[in-house]
Amino acid sequence: MEVIVAKSAGFCFGVKRAVESVYAEINNSEKPIYTYGPIIHNEQVVKDLEDKGVKVINTEKELEKLSKGTIIIRSHGVSKKIYDIIKKQNLRMVDATCPFVKKIHNIVRKESEAGKKIIIIGNDNHPEVEGIKGWVLGDAIVIHCEDDIKKLNSLNTSSFCIVSQTTFNYNKFKYLVEIINKKGYDINVVNTICNATHVRQVEAKEIASSVDAMIVIGGKSSSNTQKLYDICKSECHNTYYIQTVEDLDLCNVESLNSIGITAGASTPKNIIEEVVLNVRDEF
Ligand code: F3S
Repeated sequence: MEVIVAKSAGFCFGVKRAVESVYAEINNSEKPIYTYGPIIHNEQVVKDLEDKGVKVINTEKELEKLSKGTIIIRSHGVSKKIYDIIKKQNLRMVDATCPFVKKIHNIVRKESEAGKKIIIIGNDNHPEVEGIKGWVLGDAIVIHCEDDIKKLNSLNTSSFCIVSQTTFNYNKFKYLVEIINKKGYDINVVNTICNATHVRQVEAKEIASSVDAMIVIGGKSSSNTQKLYDICKSECHNTYYIQTVEDLDLCNVESLNSIGITAGASTPKNIIEEVVLNVRDEF
């Protein structure tokens, strides 16, 4: 029985770095330790950190009440205002903002200081976009769909810089930029999409197309895991969506010669390893 585990399964570089930095702080940091927002959308990891004394705070108000301890900024990044509050409250900061997100902060700061209006292609409610907006001088325009492009008509500027949320779909980004381009503005387009998601999806598709069964591991409410599942299912009829090893039930599928395994962006390595071990043991 051949078991193929996707190299890109699980955490991307930025999330791995952020989660590791929290674990690294547990024994060394000025206590108490807080993360600004859950470090990752994975209940088991957040619970484990909570058990080790790491608390989650979610609002500026909560932050303003703190007078000691360490704040860890997660990979999504935060607005400049949050850095200012941390400094004012004299708190220790560990900045685990993904360098790819930090790069966007620097671009929008510089370009807006140079007088350009910033357009962020992304989801307005996403914390990463919230953070990016918070580095723009003045207001940014967030565009998520074609209809949002109307927002540009009422502006009295024609000089723009366009960036993207790192996890935005590339084809949709390209499509929206093409429409904006036709308006004849002076535009500087910086494609800031991170390819970690794309790489994970391409690899999953490739593996799913060559195996007898495919296992996709991830949280129930994880949209990127659902997407991975859909991609795999379209290539391999025997595709299973599981959260942990406990959900694994391959007893109906006995005549397997090969199994592929991948996992969503917020699935920790130990959960993936448990599934891999179990599949290897059973077959
Ligand atoms: Fe991950 Fe950073 Fe890309 S958090 S998805 S490596 S932008």
